[in-house]
Formats: sequence, structure tokens, C-alpha cells
Amino acid sequence: MRILIFFGPPGAGKGTHAKIISEILNIPHISTGDIFRDAVKNETPLGKKVKEYLDNGKLVPDELVWEVVKERITKEDCKFGFILDGYPRTIPQAEFLKKFLSNAEIKVIYLRVSDEVVINRLTSRRVCKNCGAIYNLVSMPPKENNKCDFCGGELYQRSDDTEEVIRKRLDAYYKESQGLLEYYKNEGLLYEINGEEDKEIVTQKILKVVNNGV
Ligand code: AP5
Ligand code: MG
Repeated sequence: MRILIFFGPPGAGKGTHAKIISEILNIPHISTGDIFRDAVKNETPLGKKVKEYLDNGKLVPDELVWEVVKERITKEDCKFGFILDGYPRTIPQAEFLKKFLSNAEIKVIYLRVSDEVVINRLTSRRVCKNCGAIYNLVSMPPKENNKCDFCGGELYQRSDDTEEVIRKRLDAYYKESQGLLEYYKNEGLLYEINGEEDKEIVTQKILKVVNNGV
């Protein structure tokens, strides 16, 4: 079983590239952020529990996130592998995963980007309401204003993409997630890629790691 973990700060390009690679490898793309946002939108019991964390750029508690991830990765479509986007984000989350997947081949793709790039990218990100496709008004605009190229859906701005909440998400990343770089380096699973290069170049570099591990 092949598992790819997309790791990096907010706006690193995890979602953008996880989607592309999942289509190429034909394995599911699992984004904890997307699962939580759907739950909030549909006002489910999970959504009610996580809303405040998302609104304030804080991490959802580890046990709750693991419950959601465990349920998803034990589904039939994950039996040959999957891509995790935004999980794990803390060492306890990584430990849950490690215990659960003792025999899997895991590669952690770390997309490195500076804070300045993060702020610029996220304040100009737009997402399709209907299919979740990710755009950027500066670097990847839709062909038609405010309309998804793939499904024609309306584009919106994520409520946590204000400069104030982006800074809180960055703080949470440095305080609680960055330690995972050392953790996965020690495990020999970390592959670092410059996430500031053009999307096509980043995709090629990820594919190289996926195929040969270099
Ligand atoms: P989540 O949805 O995972 O948000 P995030 O980590 O802040 O990351 P983003 O989705 O903002 O960025 P991304 O790296 O996916 O970048 P994207 O591809 O969109 O989590 C949201 C919240 O949920 C958290 O704050 C937390 O509350 C909670 N949560 C989720 N998982 C959790 C967990 N495990 N534990 C606890 N809490 C959890 O790209 C960004 C922009 O850049 C786009 O506009 C894109 O078009 C553009 N772009 C991408 N690549 C390039 C490129 N190479 N060149 C130019 N532009 C680019
Ligand atoms: Mg994302």
C-alpha cells in the first residue's frame, strides 16, 4: 500500500498538487480541511464541533481529527493507497497513523514556501463552490471571471483566507506542525521540494519523488 503525505504551511500548494497526483496515480485525495469545511457547511455534528477552530485558524484536537481520518482511510477505495493532504499536523497525529499503518510505504512530500508567498497566495485564492477546484487570481486565474473552468460553478473566497486568520494559521503551523519535519527526517521519509516554483515544475518534482524516491 502506497501512502503519500502532503505537508507544508498554509498555501504551500498541498491541495493543488494532491489533486493532480491523485488523478495521475488513481488513488483518493483525502484533505482533512475539505472534510471539515464540508461538515461546517452542512451543519453536521462534526461541523458544529470544528467550526470555531477553523474560524480562528486553530488546530482541531488530535483525537477528533484521527477519528475522522481513520474512518476515511478504512474505506474500500483506500486499499491500494491514498494521499493525505493536511494530516498529520502534530506528532501525536503522526504516531496514530504510524501505529495504524505499520506495513505501508509512506513518503512525506514537504512543500517549502516563505510566509510572504503564503500571504500573497492565500489572499488571492478562490475555490469552486461546486467541485472544489483551486484558483488564484494572480497565478492561476479562471478563464472566465468568477466561474470554474471545469464545472462552471461559482468561485468563492475561504472564510479563513483573511490576512488576520492566515497569520494565526501560520502561527499554529510554526508552533505545532513544524516539528514534524525533524520527526519525518529521522524516520527517513521526508522529501523536500521548493513549493515556490511554477506549478508544472513542482508537479514534475513530486512525480520524480513518487516514482524513484529521489
Ligand atoms: P487546510 O484546509 O488543510 O488548510 P491549510 O493547511 O491552511 O492549507 P491550505 O488549504 O490553505 O493551502 P494548500 O497548501 O492546500 O494550498 P493550495 O493548493 O490551496 O486546513 C484548514 C483548517 O482545518 C486548519 O486551519 C485547521 O483548523 C483544520 N485542520 C485541517 N487538518 C487538520 C489537522 N490534521 N489537525 C488539526 N486541524 C486540522 O494553494 C494555495 C494558493 O496558491 C491557491 O490559490 C493556488 O492556486 C496557489 N498555488 C499553488 N501552488 C502554486 C504555485 N506553484 N505557484 C503559484 N501559485 C500556486
Ligand atoms: Mg488545502
